[in-house]
Amino acid sequence: MTRLFVNACMREDSRTERIARAWIERAWGADRYEELRIGEMDIRPLDSRSIALYNDAVARATYDDALFDVAKQFAAADDILMAAPVWNYGIPAKLHDYLELVCSQGVTFDITDTGEYASLCRAQRLTFVSTAGGPIPAGVDDHAFGYVRTLSNAFWHIPEVQFVYAESLDMLGADVEAKLLAALESHAS
Ligand SMILES: Cc1cc2nc3c(=O)[nH]c(=O)nc-3n(C[C@H](O)[C@H](O)[C@H](O)COP(=O)(O)O)c2cc1C
Repeated sequence: MTRLFVNACMREDSRTERIARAWIERAWGADRYEELRIGEMDIRPLDSRSIALYNDAVARATYDDALFDVAKQFAAADDILMAAPVWNYGIPAKLHDYLELVCSQGVTFDITDTGEYASLCRAQRLTFVSTAGGPIPAGVDDHAFGYVRTLSNAFWHIPEVQFVYAESLDMLGADVEAKLLAALESHAS
């Protein structure tokens, strides 16, 4: 069993990371896991140079460039924990850059002859831990969990995708400790 913690909590004393660490203690106990500290990694989004390399690799189905390392690691994980705060109703840009590389065709998913997505991932579960300073107002789309869920369902066909979430942490008078505990209790597996 391979466990992967994609840690995109950027702040020291991150509340999101506190929930994630408590989740790990409950779900994985003393089991080994790999951790990626996204904020400290040298991840670059695909650009006019790397997209040529990417497209060439996909066309040749040859993925030996380091560009594909994070996608290979992701594809091999059985149980994935991802943690990130809500930033601008989405995820931190660095996590988006990471996910762009993870979404490498031929490594984490492929396209069949009939145009459907086929998963190349082993993961049976993905848990996304997040916190937000306020609520998500009515009429505003969620581009944080909604985005991760879309990739998990459409590309990677992960059977169990769960969301552990505490909101309104930055509101005046918020009982932050109670909110963090309640988020964790809602997914005590
Ligand atoms: C750059 C930035 C953007 C943010 N955008 C939002 C937002 O769109 N909606 C919201 O409710 N809170 C927003 N917040 C507040 C954070 O989501 C909130 O403080 C969260 O709990 C931070 O998590 P952390 O303690 O793990 O760093 C933002 C904070 C920062 C620093």
